[in-house]
Amino acid sequence: MSNNLTWHLPIVTKEDRIKVHGHQGAVVWFTGLSGSGKSTLANAVDYKLYQDKRRSYILDGDNIRHGLNKDLKFSDKDRQENIRRIGEVANLFVDSGQIVLTAFISPFQADRERVRKLFKKGEFIEIYVKCSLEICEKRDPKGLYQKAREGIIPKFTGISSPYEEPICPELIIETDKLSIEQGANMVIHYLKENKILE
Ligand code: ADX
Repeated sequence: MSNNLTWHLPIVTKEDRIKVHGHQGAVVWFTGLSGSGKSTLANAVDYKLYQDKRRSYILDGDNIRHGLNKDLKFSDKDRQENIRRIGEVANLFVDSGQIVLTAFISPFQADRERVRKLFKKGEFIEIYVKCSLEICEKRDPKGLYQKAREGIIPKFTGISSPYEEPICPELIIETDKLSIEQGANMVIHYLKENKILE
């Protein structure tokens, strides 16, 4: 980082924005295997928030890797940088008083913990989208597990690259046991219980 930088204090503060929005800013961080249902759940929650006129937005791994992070691949180092950048972007959203929903595999505990540390207590909500590898592989919505098994895709999470389960997530949603609607309702319920939403 250069030394010749000055942090500018904004006239409109985070607190001002929260007052106008009528809810707190927060990051709802979905983590789990490919095909576990992170994007589906994030979209279901986002739709509920949108219908309720809340300020929310989704950052999704597959989409972000088309633009902001298109220089990154799937080595451990690139995944770490992927998550670092998304943590910083999520921090900007929270600073703007919005609820940002992120859907990244984010396979490494240390990377997720580093992101958590960017936020105030209660602002970072880690949700483990839990689904067995067997079911994710059966779903295989993008045909990637098959390619990974055939060795066409190297370092594929769950097959040839590790997924570290969250140690103490705020929520666990088991998508092989619950419907999308039930999972989305659990997230909304959590946001209300914890005073992110009134
Ligand atoms: S992360 O590991 O860095 O958090 P991210 O969520 O951005 O991953 O991207 C995962 C998506 O990229 C998967 O849902 C899948 O569609 C695609 N993908 C392509 N190659 C791989 C790979 N080797 N491992 C996991 N996902 C991959």
